[in-house]
Amino acid sequence: MILRFENVTKYFGGLAAVKDVSFTVGENQILGLIGPNGSGKTTCFNLITGVHKPTSGNILFEDKEISGTPSHKIARMGIARTFQISSVFPTLSAVENVVTAHYNKTRSNFVTGLFGICGTIKEEKRVLEHSEELLEFVGLKEKMQTQADSLTSADQRRLMIAIALATSPKLLMLDEPCAGMIEDERAELIALMRSVCKDGIPILLVEHHMKMIMEVCHHVVVMNMGQKIAEGKPEDIQKNEAVIEAYLGRSGNHA
Ligand SMILES: Nc1ncnc2c1ncn2[C@@H]1O[C@H](COP(=O)(O)OP(=O)(O)O)[C@@H](O)[C@H]1O
Ligand SMILES: [Mg+2]
Repeated sequence: MILRFENVTKYFGGLAAVKDVSFTVGENQILGLIGPNGSGKTTCFNLITGVHKPTSGNILFEDKEISGTPSHKIARMGIARTFQISSVFPTLSAVENVVTAHYNKTRSNFVTGLFGICGTIKEEKRVLEHSEELLEFVGLKEKMQTQADSLTSADQRRLMIAIALATSPKLLMLDEPCAGMIEDERAELIALMRSVCKDGIPILLVEHHMKMIMEVCHHVVVMNMGQKIAEGKPEDIQKNEAVIEAYLGRSGNHA
């Protein structure tokens, strides 16, 4: 298991946003985390990425306790995430965004100091090539030079994934990556997630869109009001009474 979320509780004042929730992400797995709005999904992401510290419980990444570790250290350990709201640099081009993401990882200042200017130029070339490859991988090759804020929201979500992959993560976490996407774009995103997983990077996916979760996830965890109410294979989750009641029943239009 790459990630273990064990009996985690997070209170905000008197509100338990996450209450005694446990799940694991396996090495070659796409794990789906679903639930109605406000059920605690993003809080789980924020706990894993060090934005919040759990009130109680343990979070283990590669068997090491990470709860309470600062966000930048967790990112360096190999957990990358995308956000519900676009987090790209709006006035940089797509490729500049991905290049910038590399430098959070490559310690270029250290390399510059050690090998002089030649090392840097070589490194810059390598980073640019890798950035271009990543943009091709996420389907943005043709839009490499486009300013990020001129990209469609679907393309900005793809760009966020390229940025996350630039850090060579061991775990990729996606928070509602297909919000605002049309059917075709969702299908492309599913294909992209499958290739990321096939390349050896497991994915933790928070998604509101039921059909997408059912199509792409190997295993699904369902939350409601801060608690885990079910988990299992997509086909079993779809039949689970508590899930239908809490999730599908209430909001109706996510099938
Ligand atoms: N930083 C915070 N401070 C106070 N309450 C929060 C904070 N973040 C989330 N919450 C509350 O925790 C609950 C779960 O929110 P969230 O994890 O964003 O749900 P989801 O992503 O499933 O929609 C909500 O009631 C929300 O208002
Ligand atoms: Mg959320």
